[in-house]
Amino acid sequence: MAKFLALSLIISSLFIGLVSAEWNILNQRWGKRKGIVEENLKNYCESWRINVELNNIRGFSVVPQECVEHVKKYMTSSQYKADSVRAVEEVRLYLSGCCTFKGDGKDSWIFDIDDTLLSTIPYYKKHGFGGEKVNASSLEAWMMRSKAPALDHTLELFHEIKNRGINIFLISSRKENLRSSTVDNLVNVGYHGWTSLTLRGFEDELVEVKNYHSKVRQQLVDEGYRIWGIIGDQWSSFDGLPMAKRTFKLPNSIYYIP
Ligand SMILES: *[C@@H]1O[C@H](CO)[C@@H](O)[C@H](O)[C@H]1NC(C)=O
Repeated sequence: MAKFLALSLIISSLFIGLVSAEWNILNQRWGKRKGIVEENLKNYCESWRINVELNNIRGFSVVPQECVEHVKKYMTSSQYKADSVRAVEEVRLYLSGCCTFKGDGKDSWIFDIDDTLLSTIPYYKKHGFGGEKVNASSLEAWMMRSKAPALDHTLELFHEIKNRGINIFLISSRKENLRSSTVDNLVNVGYHGWTSLTLRGFEDELVEVKNYHSKVRQQLVDEGYRIWGIIGDQWSSFDGLPMAKRTFKLPNSIYYIP
């Protein structure tokens, strides 16, 4: 019996030895494992990003820390540009056959401002790229300087739509006190000839941004305007009633405005 016990002890220690040897081998392959971990992280972050765009992930206040680099890479990449250009191309395609423009001064189109007409990427480059909670006062101070660059592809679209005789309404969640800096900024980079610019007044700050946007659309519809489309980077610019005939979403994985 004692002999048998001793034997089984030897055998089991051999097994443990084998198992730990396996672990050692795996550890020696760390380089490959690290590659797998990186691949998984890339997949994880890209699926986070795409689900933000699909509006499955809503109301995030910061980009997950492990994905900040990924978001930064995307938002400064040629892919981000290509995706935005494609969205604008789809607007053109839609406009070529969508609508019976009456030319009675009531045909209209809505644009967002931030990350639709103007880019806030230069600001976020210096402020954590979505990985930090938005500091409204520092963001507004940056907007006050009127230095945001245009998104070139949207700038072209803006003028094409205007030249068709369609009214352009700019609706932004920027606050009313930013009006003159916003107008200066828009004009400086080449936007002009919009019909009206709506910013958030004091009472609008008390409601959710999506309700503010739909209230402004309701006012336009009440005044007889036909809203053929909206292009924006936030789902809150499209949500609720009345709806535009179509909406076009530009990518933005840095922040989410509910
Ligand atoms: C927000 O930014 C301002 C500078 O514009 C700074 O003074 C303030 O401490 C910041 N607040 C937070 C919570 O980081």
